[in-house]
Amino acid sequence: MKAMAYQSYGDADCMQETEIPDPIPGELEILVKVRAASVNPVDWKIRSGSLRLITGNQFPRVPGVDFSGEVIEVGEHARRFRKGDFVYGMLPIFSTRLGSYATLAAIPEKFVAMAPANLPLENCAAIPLAGLTALQSLRDRGGIGDGSRVLINGASGGVGCFATQIAKIYRSEVTAVTSGKNAQYVRDLGADHIVNYHNQDFTKLAAEFDVVLDCVASSSFEACKRILAPAGRYITLLPTASVLFHGVMGSIFGGKRCVYSAVSIASDDLDILRQYVQGKTIDPCVETILPFARARDAHELSESGRVRGKVVIQFND
Ligand SMILES: NC(=O)c1ccc[n+]([C@@H]2O[C@H](COP(=O)([O-])OP(=O)(O)OC[C@H]3O[C@@H](n4cnc5c(N)ncnc54)[C@H](OP(=O)(O)O)[C@@H]3O)[C@@H](O)[C@H]2O)c1
Repeated sequence: MKAMAYQSYGDADCMQETEIPDPIPGELEILVKVRAASVNPVDWKIRSGSLRLITGNQFPRVPGVDFSGEVIEVGEHARRFRKGDFVYGMLPIFSTRLGSYATLAAIPEKFVAMAPANLPLENCAAIPLAGLTALQSLRDRGGIGDGSRVLINGASGGVGCFATQIAKIYRSEVTAVTSGKNAQYVRDLGADHIVNYHNQDFTKLAAEFDVVLDCVASSSFEACKRILAPAGRYITLLPTASVLFHGVMGSIFGGKRCVYSAVSIASDDLDILRQYVQGKTIDPCVETILPFARARDAHELSESGRVRGKVVIQFND
């Protein structure tokens, strides 16, 4: 199969179009002909080598966790899908060396769901990692509901765009922290209030929040404590020693909590996201779709930290 692979860690140029053997699906796996993959920051963090303590030194590596495509083979004991189904999902982030920037992917069927029927498959690929992270962070870690006061830092990013829309589905009041150029975009996603981080420090707001979802980790639990309600939660996507320390302290002593939210690949939640998309209550916010040959540009775009929504890589036959 054709893959965008690298033989050592490095900058985006280390990725090269490469022929590698086709994956063979295991008993509980399906083989997907990949139509599209989306770029997540973890793709280039792994590629750069900054996570090599977790990912090791085995090459070649093919980046990518998000995918959409067509089922072309089904493992002996896989029961949930049939050949010809259009599916989407994500591969485990750290345990997969052969990711989704490839024409084929062998994937455990428990990490897959039927793709939303009302969207091009390319756009479906933008959903899994960012959508699951937003849903699980707000619903499970944040416990949001009717009238919850939610602040989303980084509301224009991949996770932030989903989080803003999902918080509105839960009838929360959303304050979105973004730059001026993305303010109207985030307002159109449903944000009730906008804080332009270039002009205003959101940790100094005269307001109280039940949940602060910090997608960009430009703040900290300590800085956000004063804007959290008495049982409020600061939820961050990036684990640091301080986050883990405050997380343990909060679970012992209660009060304001600091929570690290790690995504889990749940096909039930992919089903929920599909329903939201089909009901037109969320949009995957695709900024751009680039051809497979431009995967290096897609990484550089994501590494700029300025992407609004998602960047997708598309495969043509
Ligand atoms: N724990 C997990 O399971 C998990 C899951 C998913 C992602 N993550 C991590 O979460 C982080 C966010 O992921 P993502 O996909 O949302 O990233 P992303 O799409 O690359 O984020 C880019 C966005 O961040 C905004 N931004 C940059 N600096 C900002 C600041 N100081 N304040 C507010 N907004 C700012 C940018 O808007 P402007 O151009 O307007 O500044 C841009 O729209 C990444 O580090 C990723 O690795 C963790």
